[in-house]
Amino acid sequence: MLIARTRADLQAALADLPGRALVPTMGALHDGHLALVRAARAQAPVVTSIFVNPTQFGPNEDLARYPRDEPGDLARLRDAGCDLAFLPEVATIYPPDDASRVEVAGPALGWEGARRPGHFSGVATVVTRLFGLVRPRFAWFGEKDWQQLQVVRRMTEDLCLGVEINALPTVRAGDGLALSSRNRYLSAAERALAAALPRTCLAAIDAMRAGKPVPACCADAAASLSGLGFAVDYLALVDPASLREQHDLASPARLIVAARLGPVRLLDNFPV
Ligand code: PAJ
Repeated sequence: MLIARTRADLQAALADLPGRALVPTMGALHDGHLALVRAARAQAPVVTSIFVNPTQFGPNEDLARYPRDEPGDLARLRDAGCDLAFLPEVATIYPPDDASRVEVAGPALGWEGARRPGHFSGVATVVTRLFGLVRPRFAWFGEKDWQQLQVVRRMTEDLCLGVEINALPTVRAGDGLALSSRNRYLSAAERALAAALPRTCLAAIDAMRAGKPVPACCADAAASLSGLGFAVDYLALVDPASLREQHDLASPARLIVAARLGPVRLLDNFPV
């Protein structure tokens, strides 16, 4: 596996990787990230970026304590068959005279976009720059971050970036909890309780399918999670692409949820 840290090293390494696929990450890699790398590798030579992107973190968020494990990440990427790891410094992505940002609306409004002002603009900006630097034919994203996936799809089309966006279903632990780099900050008791989040969402979906009104299903699921000790941010049924709230099952939908448990904000979503 090649490793590039500068723009010059990256361009030299890319010469041998035609038709490549990009897997953007922020590191602290787990089996969800590695599943993306393996799926991409089945399709094309793979470039994985590891970059904790400062512009997508709010002033009171966990940028400084975001988990980092470069040696472990590189070993895992090697095992997963990644061809090139790109690990830029902040100034490599955002040079000192940098003055441009990508602005996003549509699916970026509401939910995470409302709770984390500037977050999706930061994601869109870094993804655009990574596309520009790596010039991939394909890029892989996880369904785990459903709203992010829709923002990236919309932006790639709107800005004519010419990258084919592929998505991988969420990789989960045995008890159903979606894998996430931040799960390591859950205590043992919180980790055991966390599986109630997907379980409660799936029960809400069963109730919707059985004919119980959607708003009542969402409200009851949120109340039941609050009773267990989760601080629920939102739990809603939305249109899968626009992320606009949906009140019935007349068309395909996505149940999205964000809830804090102890120090960790858990995000999840399910097809309906
Ligand atoms: P990060 O949280 O590191 O996630 C990198 C990619 O892995 C994203 O596409 C995310 O959806 C996917 N992923 C995370 N957990 C997953 C799981 N359990 N199953 C399947 N896929 C999973 O998302 C980001 O980084 C950043 O916002 C980024 C896109 C890299 C821009 O900075």
